[in-house]
Amino acid sequence: METLKQHLNNLLGNALHSVTDLPQCNANVITSSKREFGDYQANGVMAIAKQLNTNPKELAKDVQKHLEDHEDRLVGRLEVAGPGFINIFLRNSELLGRANTHLNDLDTLIPKIESSQTIVIDYPSPNLAKESSQTIVIDYSSPNLAKEMHVGHLRGTIIGDSLARILERLGHRVVRQNHVGDWGTQFGMLIAYMKELPKKDNAPPDQLIDLENFYKVAKNRFDSDPVFADSARSSVVSLQRKDPEYMAIWEQFIEESMHHCEAVYEKLNVTLKRKDLDAESSYNEDLPVIVEHLTTKKLLKESEGALCVFLPEFVGKNNEPLPVIIQKTDGSYLYATTDLAAIKLRSHELKADRSIYVVDVRQSLHFQQVFAVAKVSGLASSTISLEHISYGTIMDKDGKPFRTRSGDTVKLADLLNESVRRALALVTEKNPKLNASDMQHIAQKVGIAAVKYADLSKNRTSNYIFDWSSMLSFEGNTAPYLMYAYARIKSMLRKQEVVNGAFRITSVSKPEERELLLKNLQLPEVLHTVAVDCYPNHLCNYLYELAGCFMRFYENCPILKAETQERESRLALCMLTAESLQQGLDLLGIETLEQM
Ligand code: ARG
Repeated sequence: METLKQHLNNLLGNALHSVTDLPQCNANVITSSKREFGDYQANGVMAIAKQLNTNPKELAKDVQKHLEDHEDRLVGRLEVAGPGFINIFLRNSELLGRANTHLNDLDTLIPKIESSQTIVIDYPSPNLAKESSQTIVIDYSSPNLAKEMHVGHLRGTIIGDSLARILERLGHRVVRQNHVGDWGTQFGMLIAYMKELPKKDNAPPDQLIDLENFYKVAKNRFDSDPVFADSARSSVVSLQRKDPEYMAIWEQFIEESMHHCEAVYEKLNVTLKRKDLDAESSYNEDLPVIVEHLTTKKLLKESEGALCVFLPEFVGKNNEPLPVIIQKTDGSYLYATTDLAAIKLRSHELKADRSIYVVDVRQSLHFQQVFAVAKVSGLASSTISLEHISYGTIMDKDGKPFRTRSGDTVKLADLLNESVRRALALVTEKNPKLNASDMQHIAQKVGIAAVKYADLSKNRTSNYIFDWSSMLSFEGNTAPYLMYAYARIKSMLRKQEVVNGAFRITSVSKPEERELLLKNLQLPEVLHTVAVDCYPNHLCNYLYELAGCFMRFYENCPILKAETQERESRLALCMLTAESLQQGLDLLGIETLEQM
């Protein structure tokens, strides 16, 4: 089933095509900002009139006339407004029909894109909405395994996970790639330190329980003890030679570090699994092949001993050419080289249509350069879309990057525990009668949801201020507010003993009732927007507005006091709303509670 917006874009686009004879007409349909402007409005007429040098209002009227002659099941009434807008009022019968289809089968609430589906509507024209299921690689989380995950990994991990869930739910083939940093000089230092520590049997040293501290001590030794530094450097060489003794220690370290990550993923309800690993080290064998490929393409130049690619579009402040370094004098490869190897795999083996990188905005130049080199060299296919989905920094109240009091990075595990602790205090205060285990359960879900939602609801490209009190508030655009709204609806439905599919929605007599019904039907079109531009905050806004519509409905439309048919219809609408909230929050990776 196409979304309401897709249907209208097709319908009005085709009407414009019939009236003007232009091959492609974008009706540019959007949701109306005010009730009196209809449910949707088409803004595309003006641009087309300009192109044809005709009067936009007249053109809008022609479109209106054309559509009145060709009845549509969704469109009730059209109105031409202002310089050539078309306000669209939808038929209640079709809205009710759609809503009841969803109530019969809640899986239809978000229709899946079939592979290579073409949505055909009743008008013969080139304006068919084409949408097909794609293969989409999402590179996200991707921490450096030398250290423990910290607050800097929060955004990439949860934004990426939400995008993966949404794209998958829409019917795309999603390949998650956790491009962990598990290779490079730092590991020489860590292995040298690990070798020094006493170990029982084959167990990893106890010191690895605190990875962060382990790294610090090793780094300290490296900086202050020349003998240790030498041993660290020779460890790197042994590793690169794949010396079995060193490889075994390295593997043990990586295994421990992955356990740390997995504990965080589990806490965060993030879907990344071992099978999604796309470790940097897995490309080691392929790196000489990349150099060879770039050499064949005549793209490599020697500069100060290193092998580099220079592309004309990348220049520094003084117009000097900026290199993409591929291999250093000592033979070692760089971050960019591995990324080129990964692009080759994603393009030519995984056959991705899109490859999305959810990574800090500070790596923009890196990705611009790598993408450009990949395209000119053919390491990327000509059709793959390479997209850096960047995000800003989490700040403290003083506008500085978020750190502990002592100036250290905040471990992600500690941050999440703190949130659960604060949520527990809140739940205890709000509902002291709950038993301890229920309280703990609720606090666990609310604490994690609060941190995730606070992040996902912000525009990802901006920095934002981390603030416990606003994210844990039961008012405003927060996780607790939405989770509470959901739990309240569910509790009412339980009291009325409403079961799935029992009732149908038949009434749209009050404006608040109709508004809520329509809002429920708009979830899929919001997801389509997120699928294109990768801003999960659209989904958060939608859910917040949906909850707002529900509150207005609840205040204005009596449910239990209404006569039977209306009462059942309103209960069914409550049921649909709970479902939209639950499915929407799930796509953000947020678990709902039936009771709070
Ligand atoms: N490990 C890198 C870091 O911590 C992020 C990797 C992002 N993904 C990629 N394909 N480069 O900065």
